[in-house]
Amino acid sequence: MRALVRETRINPDGLVQPLFVVEGTNVVQPIGSMPGVSRYSVDAVVRECRELDAVGVRAVLLFGIPDEAQKDAYATVNYDPNGIVQRAAAAIKDALPKLLVIADLCNCEYTDHGHCGILDHTGDVDNDQTLDLLAKTALSYAHAGVDIVAPSDMMDGRVAAIRTALDDDGFTKTAIMSYAAKYASAFYGPFREAAESTPAFGDRRTYQMDPANGREALKEVRLDVEEGADIVMVKPAMAYLDVVRAVRESTDLPVAVYHVSGEYSMLKGAAERGWIDEVRAVEETLTAIARAGADVIITYFAKDYLRRVRA
Ligand code: PBG
Repeated sequence: MRALVRETRINPDGLVQPLFVVEGTNVVQPIGSMPGVSRYSVDAVVRECRELDAVGVRAVLLFGIPDEAQKDAYATVNYDPNGIVQRAAAAIKDALPKLLVIADLCNCEYTDHGHCGILDHTGDVDNDQTLDLLAKTALSYAHAGVDIVAPSDMMDGRVAAIRTALDDDGFTKTAIMSYAAKYASAFYGPFREAAESTPAFGDRRTYQMDPANGREALKEVRLDVEEGADIVMVKPAMAYLDVVRAVRESTDLPVAVYHVSGEYSMLKGAAERGWIDEVRAVEETLTAIARAGADVIITYFAKDYLRRVRA
């Protein structure tokens, strides 16, 4: 009877698995702060994608992690046609044409200073100079076969800049999933270890949102919708479910929610110690995110969850 009247279901087709891609061959490098998550070289990520596909994961979100020596102040290697994301995307689409490839679009993994954009002479991120860089990189990802670009930098005006660049080059079908309401959160901690993208100085509070602000999220979403976003995202998830609900009610676009690294590691850490039941806690968490209004849930648990429910 409970199943008969259940209001919310986790949509298996709406789960996205994030993947970290590094240089090298045959590399599968476990990430200490994220038990069960690894960094993969391009060949290994293709093998991982075959496994994901086999358990029913429909979409992956790629993060490129170049070698330290390739980083510079202008994130040049991010728009290299032979860059890490470009090669990974091409190899995955080649092996599994139907697997949806989303690429996180940001500069923090590619700059030597670790900030998400180009710095001005005072050391602040220069919003407008960064827009050109993002547009150029988005185009290069589209050329490599990426289906959806996902700008996560929080620069103002980036969605319009990326949309224009893509359309001008004929990539009218490449979609934009915008990290519209991305908060300056402590829950990204493990990710920064995974992606080696901790800022060398300062923090990201000048471009990411203040956790205290809910209405501002609606403004950020409205601007991104006006600029041509196809999917809008709220990030992180659990501490922001009120924002997810408000965003859901403010737009007809699909809403994505990112269940981030810290949220993953907290659950894993407690489960490893036997303090919580992982399977139940994950089910409950994903259900709550869906109940709040998420259509798309980006989570490091996607593979595990689908392996279990589709088995
Ligand atoms: C890049 C980016 C971050 C995350 C996604 N894209 C890190 C950050 O902004 O510091 C976080 C993902 C996670 O914690 O799982 N800007």
